[in-house]
Amino acid sequence: MSLEETLNKIWQEAEKEFTSVKSLSELENLLIKYLGRKSYLANFPSLIKKLEIEEKRKIGSLYNELKRKIENLYRQKKEFLLETNIKFDFEHPGREIKVGKEHLISQTINKIFDIFIQLGFSVVDYAQIVDEKENFDYLNIPPHHPARDLWDTLWVKNRELLFRTHTSCFQVPVLKKYGVPIRAIIAGKVFRYEAIDKTHDFEFYQLDGISISENSNLGHLKYVVEKFFERFFKENLPVRFRPGYFPFVEPGLEIDIGCIFCKQRGCIICKKTGFIEVAGAGMVHDFVLKSAGIDYKKYQGYAFGFGVDRLIMLEHGIDDIRILHSSDLRFIRQF
Ligand code: PHE
Repeated sequence: MSLEETLNKIWQEAEKEFTSVKSLSELENLLIKYLGRKSYLANFPSLIKKLEIEEKRKIGSLYNELKRKIENLYRQKKEFLLETNIKFDFEHPGREIKVGKEHLISQTINKIFDIFIQLGFSVVDYAQIVDEKENFDYLNIPPHHPARDLWDTLWVKNRELLFRTHTSCFQVPVLKKYGVPIRAIIAGKVFRYEAIDKTHDFEFYQLDGISISENSNLGHLKYVVEKFFERFFKENLPVRFRPGYFPFVEPGLEIDIGCIFCKQRGCIICKKTGFIEVAGAGMVHDFVLKSAGIDYKKYQGYAFGFGVDRLIMLEHGIDDIRILHSSDLRFIRQF
């Protein structure tokens, strides 16, 4: 067999062997077999030396090419084995993959949105930092009005701006943006400059709704609120409306629901009254409609505001708002 034929044969065998190799250690052995110090090819230059000059050149370059090809085979196969040689141990317990989920507050807000969407409302959003006009003036609470004391405000930038004290601040901006008729709700964080205890936090969540049309009235408000509570608590709780004062509604109402803990028999949570206060509401004041540039002789409607945390605490029997707002995983993972 000529040297050229021998080189060809070596290539054919190498190709076959490198293709069928299954592990990295076998691959290293193959490399030694073909290109190691004691291999046939390592000894090959001494055979070339004995050739005529023409032959020397030809066989020499075939030899170099073959070495390069084998090195390439080795490199490609090594890459492939490193990528695919993952060992599976089916006895070994797997690593737990932790998947995050929505916080109870977000879950509840989405549930509330779903119910109001079914009742024909559109979900809107608005800024958390607003100006004094949006939070107070447009809502019939002028600078020196004693009602401003109802909301302990966190001011920003020398009183130019403030952290919204209630989601009702969306009323005039949303009326200006979308016009009337409208049925919209918003939910989100509000802020108060307030000491923290079991039932108060300096930030908490509210939901506000507004419905304005030519004939939107208190009867509609009653229907919407009753349907909402029925779907939220999945039971038929009595809903009670009492007169209440908020500068931006006239008449103004406080809304109570039958205590879900004692079923109106009277307990510590409802202070033996059988009812729990959950919302403020009323017919939108002409002043607010005027602030939004709406013809208040033609259009009218109702507005309401709920404490979202309050609803969650009632639904799940949570007695401390601080746990609800903490990042305590033992609490969060229960929902
Ligand atoms: N914004 C009021 C509050 O923070 C609640 C409310 C909303 C009352 C809408 C009437 C109408 O207490």
